[in-house]
Amino acid sequence: MIYLDNAATSWPKPPAVYETLGSFLQRAGANPGRSAHRMALEASRAVEETRRKLARLIGLSQPERIVFTLNATDALNLGIKGVLSPNDHVVTTVMEHNSVRRPLRALEAIGVTTTKVSADPEGFVAPEQIKAALRPNTRLVVVTHASNVNGAVQPIREIADVVHAHGALLLVDAAQTIGALPFSIEALGADLLAFGGHKALMGPPGTGALVLAPWLDPAELSPIREGGTGINSEEDVQPRELPARYEAGTVNTVGLAALGAALDFLFEVGIDRIAAHERALTARLIDGLSDIPGVRVLAPRDPVHRVAVVSFLIDGWEPVDIGTVLDQAFGIACRTGLHCAPEACQALGAFPGGTVRFSPGFFTTEEEIDQAIAAVAELARTPLQLR
Ligand code: ALA
Repeated sequence: MIYLDNAATSWPKPPAVYETLGSFLQRAGANPGRSAHRMALEASRAVEETRRKLARLIGLSQPERIVFTLNATDALNLGIKGVLSPNDHVVTTVMEHNSVRRPLRALEAIGVTTTKVSADPEGFVAPEQIKAALRPNTRLVVVTHASNVNGAVQPIREIADVVHAHGALLLVDAAQTIGALPFSIEALGADLLAFGGHKALMGPPGTGALVLAPWLDPAELSPIREGGTGINSEEDVQPRELPARYEAGTVNTVGLAALGAALDFLFEVGIDRIAAHERALTARLIDGLSDIPGVRVLAPRDPVHRVAVVSFLIDGWEPVDIGTVLDQAFGIACRTGLHCAPEACQALGAFPGGTVRFSPGFFTTEEEIDQAIAAVAELARTPLQLR
């Protein structure tokens, strides 16, 4: 199989991730941060090591500002619902995933209002448009770092400056960039950064985090879930300490330990090398697909402002049919449809059918990209025969 669905989840994982998933519960399957016996301490150590590795990855000196969550969606829900109150206004963009779109829609019920800023035909959002959408009661701006539909990387630093000048907070959805691009939370300027551990970080599903920037007062973010934390147990209110304030209940020890193993792999290889490899594959893919008559590639032209997520359409074909034929006749795994981001597809001119999306990863080879291009060329030559 040629796996080109890394934007959904990366595959394969580094071998140490599988090994950790297979062995951790036998070796250290106790509850972290609760009991004081050796195995519980070993479980705590694994979880806290992963926290420290993530902090190192994003240049954060206080690992406790990394709050573990189920996935990027869970982190975004905490960031959105933990900040907003009735009558607050939010600015977001049409490029967002349903993990932003739906929580904001749900908050309309308590009087939160949202303004959505449009994107240009390549999927880029202009900081001036964000600025123009701000209101006196704008409390939060939520923007994706890179689109999961076409890989467009947004000008987050410029957006952060606009948002901070207004006194609002910026929540960045880094689901498609963490592990794929080198960045520090400080340089990015995000007050809150949400991501999952199973995409470019190469960890397992069921892991993710919301990061509070070093300058953010935790009083700005309320917990959205209360419960046991292993500390301050005599009190019936959630502790103020980080990360316990937001981490009620037992965390995914085995998943986080495996994420730690994935991070060791990332550090060993180096994010710069990963980014360079993916950038080269993406350019090869875009060039190859663009040369095929009848194929429309929906990707930013500028290689600096995109990640390895490429959408395209073939004349005479529905995206969903292309995905089925690519899988069954060519052994190519990709994603088709709206990618949980219908307004992004609309902005790129691919609604309601959506797109076909190829997302290479670190383990993808040039030969696989060439085979995928050849398969698309074959489909583009035979539009009616296979429908
Ligand atoms: N959000 C993931 C994707 O884009 C699942 O496929």
